[in-house]
Amino acid sequence: MKTLKISNSVHYVGVNDRRKSLFENQLPLPYGVSYNSYLVVDEKIALVDTVDACYFDIFLQKIETAIKGRKIDYLIINHMEPDHSGSIRLIRQQFPNIQIIGNAKTFDMLKGYYGVIDNLLEVKDGETLQLGETSLQFFLTPMVHWPETMMTYHQQEKILFSGDAFGCFGALDGGVLDTTMNLDKFWGEMRRYYANIVGKYGVPVQNALKKLDGLEITMLCSTHGPVWTEEREKVINFYDMYSRYEPLVKGVVVAYGSMYGNTEHMAEAIAAGISAGGVKDIVLHDVSKTDASFILADVFKYSALVIGSPTYMNELFPQVALLLHKIEARAIKNRIFAAFGSCTWAGVSVKTMLPWAEKLQWNIVGSAEEKQALKAEKYEECYALGLQIAEKIENRV
Ligand code: FEO
Repeated sequence: MKTLKISNSVHYVGVNDRRKSLFENQLPLPYGVSYNSYLVVDEKIALVDTVDACYFDIFLQKIETAIKGRKIDYLIINHMEPDHSGSIRLIRQQFPNIQIIGNAKTFDMLKGYYGVIDNLLEVKDGETLQLGETSLQFFLTPMVHWPETMMTYHQQEKILFSGDAFGCFGALDGGVLDTTMNLDKFWGEMRRYYANIVGKYGVPVQNALKKLDGLEITMLCSTHGPVWTEEREKVINFYDMYSRYEPLVKGVVVAYGSMYGNTEHMAEAIAAGISAGGVKDIVLHDVSKTDASFILADVFKYSALVIGSPTYMNELFPQVALLLHKIEARAIKNRIFAAFGSCTWAGVSVKTMLPWAEKLQWNIVGSAEEKQALKAEKYEECYALGLQIAEKIENRV
């Protein structure tokens, strides 16, 4: 087996998972996912994070190839979520003297998940560890993505082992460095990863970025996705924009539920109005067809959101309610909004969505509601609502 050396002292020993269909048993993985782990080799050897326990065998083979009969001295735990911590017990069985490095919150979770309470070395924010000539510095970055998360900085080679931060879904199909692969699939998967995994923690991400500001970084080694070298600035800027909830595109997401096509007809009429108003970037999602994780990624991406829902059992359509819950949980800020919906005898959906958007302090343009099928007069109202939405969006064509 060959392992990949990505710098003078760092080996990539991560693995790919193309079998799992749902990340965290909830988020689809059309391109799979990688669990990245790194070995820093000097007089002492440090392993940075582990991998999902299902892949321990191949993980160990990679490690053994890289260390050539030596032992690992330290295991640095940047993040305790089991996709990275899952192999800790097995690593300890292989290297019984390994010392585990983390912070106080790490060790609380380590005990709770795996019953590990010995051979621990606690580090505090800014402290360093010498491996020989190599010095590793630790930065505590709580809530990116869990309370214990921290990052490890290789001071000599200017490499940041960043945990989940700067990560994305998508297995690594051959290469590991961003310079060795076509990155097309990763940009969309980075948006979806950010929106769904880290999206709730905009303020902690901003705090982490401030803490890292001024640090010279030549390589970003996340726990998921490519190792970022040439594209590292783009990736950092991306995290900066998203954690400030700034849309990337001045355009509209129209997300709707529809049982028999009546609410969908309203969505089409509104979208036609938006288009006629000069907006090119419009995307429609049927919430029953498109997984909410993809819609959420687009809510982060676009500046305006229009949601449609039938009234169902005197409430919102269930998949629309789920989408609203996901958006609210992430407290997405500063979006242009409109609501629409249809009902057969009593309209509840629009009445539910407008106060929801008010609570988020969004810019509400208006709403439209129809009983049963979409009639000509209401079609015109929907189209006009689309024109109004377009009016609110800057940089129209
Ligand atoms: Fe990839 Fe928060 O774990």
